[in-house]
Formats: sequence, C-alpha cells, structure tokens
Amino acid sequence: MPLLDSFGRVHTNLRISVTDRCNIRCFYCMPADNVQFMNRRELLTFEEIERFVRISVPLGLRKIRLTGGEPLVRRDLHRLVEKLAAIPEIEDIGLTTNGILLAEQAQELFDAGLRRINVSLDALDPVKFEKITRRTGYEKVIEGIQSAQRVGFDPVKVNAVAVRGLTEDEVAPFGRFARETGVEIRFIEFMPLDADNNWGRDKVLFKHEILEILTREIMPLVPMSEQDPHAPASEFQFVDGVGRIGIIASVSEPFCMSCDRFRITADGKLRNCLFSLEETDVKAMLRDNAADAEIARAIRESIAVKKEGHEINTARFVQPDRPMHSIGG
Ligand code: 5AD
Ligand code: SF4
Repeated sequence: MPLLDSFGRVHTNLRISVTDRCNIRCFYCMPADNVQFMNRRELLTFEEIERFVRISVPLGLRKIRLTGGEPLVRRDLHRLVEKLAAIPEIEDIGLTTNGILLAEQAQELFDAGLRRINVSLDALDPVKFEKITRRTGYEKVIEGIQSAQRVGFDPVKVNAVAVRGLTEDEVAPFGRFARETGVEIRFIEFMPLDADNNWGRDKVLFKHEILEILTREIMPLVPMSEQDPHAPASEFQFVDGVGRIGIIASVSEPFCMSCDRFRITADGKLRNCLFSLEETDVKAMLRDNAADAEIARAIRESIAVKKEGHEINTARFVQPDRPMHSIGG
C-alpha cells in the first residue's frame, strides 16, 4: 500500500533537513540574530536518516531532496548522499543549497551520486543580496553555480524568492541570466514562514506580475508542454526557445492537491506538510529501538491525516511555530 492521505494523494517524495544552521540570515527564513539552534545531539545521525529512508522505501518513497538550514554546513554531507544513492529504489536525489560552500563541495557531492542542485539566490545585485541575506557571500554563490555546471550537475536551478517592494528589479536580470547560462530560474512567491512574522499578502510578488515583467522587458513566454504533475513550479520558456523560467505560485495558485511530499526535520520530526502544526517524533522512535514496522505505521498515520492544503488564503491560516530554517525548505 502506498502512502495515501484521505484526499487520495500518494506520497513518494521526502525532503530531509540535515541541519537548522545556516551561514547566512535571509529575512524570509531566519531571525537576524540570536537564533536558537538545535543541540547537535538532537540531530539525526546519517545512520538514523538512512534507516528512516529504508523504512520509507517499501511505503513508496522514490525521491529525496536534502535541505537545511544550509545542508552544506553539515559535515561530510557527501557521505549521506553516498548512503542514500546506494538504495536502488531511490530514483532521484536533489539538494537545495544557498551555494556559499558549493564550489568547495560540488565535485565530492557529484562523485557521491548527487545529480540535481537548486541554488537559492534572490538577487543578482550584490547590494540587494546583502540586504536580503544580511551577510556577504554573493561572489561565492555565483562561483558555486558555475562549479556545479562545470562538474556536470544537470539540472542546476536557481530559486529566487519574489518579494514585492524588494525584488521587482531582479526579475528581468534573472530572465537574462537564465538565457545566458542555461540555468533554470524559479521564482517562488514569498510565503508566511519567516521567523519575524512580517509576512503579508501585500509583500508577495505574484506569478502574473513576474510574467508581465519578463514579457515587457525581454519577450513573451510560453508554457512548457511537458510538465511533471507533481512539480510545484509551472514551467515556461521564452518564445524564441532560449531560457527556462519556473514559477512556484504557492500563494496565488496553491498546488496542494497534487502534493506528493513529506518532510523530516533535522531533529527527526516527521511533518506531512510545510505548514503542519503537528509533528510525529520519529527520532524518539529511532532512539527507543522501535521496530521498523512500528515506525512504518507512524509514517502511514501521519500521512493519512494530512490536511487538504495550507490555507494561506483564508482567515483560518495559522503560521507554524518553526520558521523555514528549522522545517527545511
Ligand atoms: N517563502 C518562499 N520561499 C522560501 N524559501 C525559504 N523561505 C521562504 C519563504 N518564506 C525558499 C528558499 C529556498 C527554498 C528551499 O525555499 O529560498 O530556495
Ligand atoms: Fe504540500 Fe503542504 Fe506545500 Fe501544500 S503547503 S504543497 S500540502 S507541503
């Protein structure tokens, strides 16, 4: 039996957060300072993560993405990739990183079996980069993207959070960047997952506006004909066939009904949705010598009660206590 919820959604896709630490401080994900990080003993070990994955495989798990915090600050991450890549049923392993440590690690990650990389970069203007991340490191991110392409990662994608009043001027430069480098740029509507609770609808730069800017400043786009029904991004191409753009319209066009994801936080809590208010303590089970069957049952039970969707667009919406860096993007 696959991992089914009460809306008939099948869950094959796991996002694993390997740390809640990060070497920058993006305002939409982390507080500026005094971050309370998890104690290192709280983090699942690579062996515990591997066990959780091996228990999930017979339940239908096929795709994995490693996230953080910033996953590359977890020591020897390539060793985890190696362990997971050795599981034959796992068809696909991806990584979402801020790119700062990527140039140093790209080759060892590739050699360990990783093939897909998303780099988070919200601005091509270095001054704006520092304003958003509250840290330096722009050059390193650009180097990281270039190294990933050179080493052979395919695809390399860039995730850019789209924030009204802040990143409008970045949209067209990113469109040109996509055309020049072959990197797919994915704009993500700003979601209420910030630590400072400053999100508001008025701060979301919407999908239709992003498309308008690209059309006006570069040229019109057409939807890609083949789209993965579970991919959160709607994919476009400029009409001349050069340059791919994805837009993750989590707020203006929620895609929850085709969601196939579940998540495990760095401290071993299973979450059936980015916005869940409840978690299952898998770490306690792993450390209390629970049997595989017992853990499998807990996974099934968590997925079974997944809510219909995130409710950002309703008055009922409640922002989770954990900000993005401790959930895992
Ligand atoms: N809204 C939208 N996207 C976010 N991300 C992190 N926090 C938010 C937010 N509040 C993005 C990161 C990363 C991906 C995992 O999620 O930029 O690219
Ligand atoms: Fe899936 Fe929850 Fe994201 Fe909707 S909000 S797509 S249900 S993880």
